[in-house]
Amino acid sequence: MDLLVVGSGLFGLTIAERAAAELGLRVGVVESRQHVGGNAWSSIDRDTGIEEHRYGAHIFHTSNEKVWGYVNRFTSFTDYTHHVYARHRGEVYPLPINLATINQFFHTSLGPGEARAMIEAQADLGSDANPGNLEDKAISLIGRPLYEAFIRGYTAKQWQTDPRQLPAEIITRLPVRYTYDNRYFNDTHQGMPTQGYGAWLERMATHPLIDVHLGVDFLDPNQPLSRSAAVGQVPVVYTGPIDRYFDHRFGRLGWRTVEFERQVLPVDDHQGTAVINYCDEDVAHTRVLEFKHFHPERRHRNDCTLIAREFSRFAGADDEAYYPVNTPGDRQMLDRYREAADKESRVLFGGRLGTYQYLDMHMAIGSALSRFDNVIRGWFA
Ligand code: FDA
Repeated sequence: MDLLVVGSGLFGLTIAERAAAELGLRVGVVESRQHVGGNAWSSIDRDTGIEEHRYGAHIFHTSNEKVWGYVNRFTSFTDYTHHVYARHRGEVYPLPINLATINQFFHTSLGPGEARAMIEAQADLGSDANPGNLEDKAISLIGRPLYEAFIRGYTAKQWQTDPRQLPAEIITRLPVRYTYDNRYFNDTHQGMPTQGYGAWLERMATHPLIDVHLGVDFLDPNQPLSRSAAVGQVPVVYTGPIDRYFDHRFGRLGWRTVEFERQVLPVDDHQGTAVINYCDEDVAHTRVLEFKHFHPERRHRNDCTLIAREFSRFAGADDEAYYPVNTPGDRQMLDRYREAADKESRVLFGGRLGTYQYLDMHMAIGSALSRFDNVIRGWFA
């Protein structure tokens, strides 16, 4: 083996595929789960035949032409365009907040200029405004009425914390569109992999020079491809949690996790769209996903549908890490881990867990393509 990749998410798979296809290297991939693909993985639910995103709704979108060209080598994409709706006090509104949301919410028929003037007036906190917490910051961006309807309850549920206790820097902007455009993403390209995420991700791993070992934890010293056996012997790309690699010697980085309560319902269509956010605090879940709507082009059974209710909370030691909490304490700890990582010889830390940051799929792939060019090529030059 010439290179060992730890983790088969999009970062790890992109590095493995490039190293095998472009440099002709023999690549070992160790993956602790029983499937490749990391959190983007999906599979077909046996009972309903519906493709299920096991780790949350995934919609591919990018404006990066290099990434778009790369992913199209392994899959084509449907023309799915993502839309999200929000439920608040028994009514359903389009998101991100746009002219339709504003006019429905305020029972008005304002044009773009009038709507902008009204929201700017509502957002004006006066001269003593000093957004020290998330609530003040959000109000200074979109005004109190929209904040209270669409942001306060949802944010409190996401963070299990009153937004007045959350730091302002969690949000830098809250998009308000003064048009009726409610496409959730405005990247040049978006869509769903035609044959599903599972098929796409497996195709990336099928190169004859790539050897995948499923169900193997790199940090388990009792298995042959462990950290203690490999580091120093073979170059390693590590995409697991950076703090775990160092046995949490500087402490545990904070993450939020998401739990999914899945349910098969005996109806053709439950909510008429793929994602509805639940903004009010008296409903415990944050979102409801209905998977068949991600593929309107497929012929699905019409006697059932598969949904998942999403619940958000702080991650314990055994939970899946989904979103970095990123407090000032986390950032200080991360600096110490980064220093330690720089001292590791021929170990590259990458991906969302290895760098402790939220990455969309196109960002994970883009980052892997550039780290491949800037680091991995040099290792084998
Ligand atoms: P990922 O976490 O996918 O892969 C890491 C892999 O390493 C895992 O398979 C893990 O099992 C393995 N591993 C870890 N430690 C190991 C060890 N010690 N030994 C062996 N294996 C180990 N993006 C987007 O573009 N559109 C979207 O709609 C969404 N939606 C979305 C929803 C939710 C709820 C989340 C949390 C995230 C998204 N994303 C997204 C982001 C997307 O999931 C993300 O970009 C990719 O998962 C990043 O891929 P990585 O390879 O970095 O990590």
